Amino acid sequence: MNHEKIRADLVDYGDKLFVNSAGASLMPRSVGEKIKEYLDREERLGGYTVAGQQAEEIAEFYREAAHLIGCATHNIAFAHSASTGYMQALSSIPLYAKDVIITSEVDYTSNFLQFLSLHKKRGVICEIIKSLPNGDLDIAHFRQLIDQYPVKLVAVTHIPTNSGMVQDVATIGEICAAENLIFLLDACQSIGQIEVNLKNIKCDFLTATGRKFLRGPRGTGFLYISDRILNEGYAPLLLDGGNATWTGPDTYELVESAERFGHWEKPYAMLAGLTEALRYLNEIGIQNVEKQNKKIIERLRGNLAAIPSVTCYDLGTQTSNILTFRKEGRTLEDIQQAFSNHLIFYGVSQKHQGQIDFNKKGVDWVIRLSPHYFNTVEEIDRLSTIIEEI
Ligand SMILES: Cc1ncc(COP(=O)(O)O)c(C=O)c1O
Repeated sequence: MNHEKIRADLVDYGDKLFVNSAGASLMPRSVGEKIKEYLDREERLGGYTVAGQQAEEIAEFYREAAHLIGCATHNIAFAHSASTGYMQALSSIPLYAKDVIITSEVDYTSNFLQFLSLHKKRGVICEIIKSLPNGDLDIAHFRQLIDQYPVKLVAVTHIPTNSGMVQDVATIGEICAAENLIFLLDACQSIGQIEVNLKNIKCDFLTATGRKFLRGPRGTGFLYISDRILNEGYAPLLLDGGNATWTGPDTYELVESAERFGHWEKPYAMLAGLTEALRYLNEIGIQNVEKQNKKIIERLRGNLAAIPSVTCYDLGTQTSNILTFRKEGRTLEDIQQAFSNHLIFYGVSQKHQGQIDFNKKGVDWVIRLSPHYFNTVEEIDRLSTIIEEI
């Protein structure tokens, strides 16, 4: 990994200390350039003409995304966000009264809101896999739920938004495959941060966003759809002209590829930016990114563990580059003020982003630090000293 080049690719980084890649990361310079170039063309020629001229570059998006997660290009659809991809996927599952969705305690807010909405409108039931005392998924409980209920869907988040643990979705995927259950994986926080390869994780749907650890622009994401789902004719509840062809007054034909779950209208300039972010990442190599990420987060966790007044809230056997903490005797405002004085860019997770998790932890906010491979060990040490001195 050429760290010097990676740092040089940051735009106007200056004295700031950016540790918010789980929120919206910093795009490499070339990502912004691609977006601006594309917009410039649209300004002069109009969007349809440019999309026609850029067909090969647009196809590159599918190649780069497929390469990153180890699938074929026809399994990838563009999404405007992880949540819109998730909604498209969820809407394709026929869910009626008393059908059961199984999820985890730490699943993402919007996923829970969708399950609750399905409960309110259709009587769909959401069952939650218990967590073990150390935070890991209780796989034995998962098996019990499968035996007990008419399960229509298993939907589990890989890395939660408000804590750094990594859930064992490979085992969930194995069990779902053996039991012929549909598995929807929210990989929003893991894509771009750690290796997510479909050769090791079996799932039917995977959702990802562009702006976080992938370092792409806002308003972008992608969706993976398995061949099984495509071949069995699943499609979103409501279709647009990119999902199907209107073949006669009363008929339509679904498109064969995963774009059946996408949208006809796309922000092509942003898609060009996301393609560049994917290309940039693939060129560095996700294994190299993961290795560097491990190095810096171990340093940060080690530094903070040595400060007695700091409590970290990340559970689980495997943790990631999301670190959540509080400091005894310091309010949220105290920490925000200190971080603002030192130009630290970070996140805050609040109870409404994880009702079950926060209730169990007995707190209603945590500071979220999410360093990424472009951060340096020196920055991590500086950050740790600042936290110690607050
Ligand atoms: C785990 C997880 N899933 C899904 C999302 C939603 O992503 P988006 O805002 O792109 O819909 C987030 C965003 O923070 C997230 O952390």
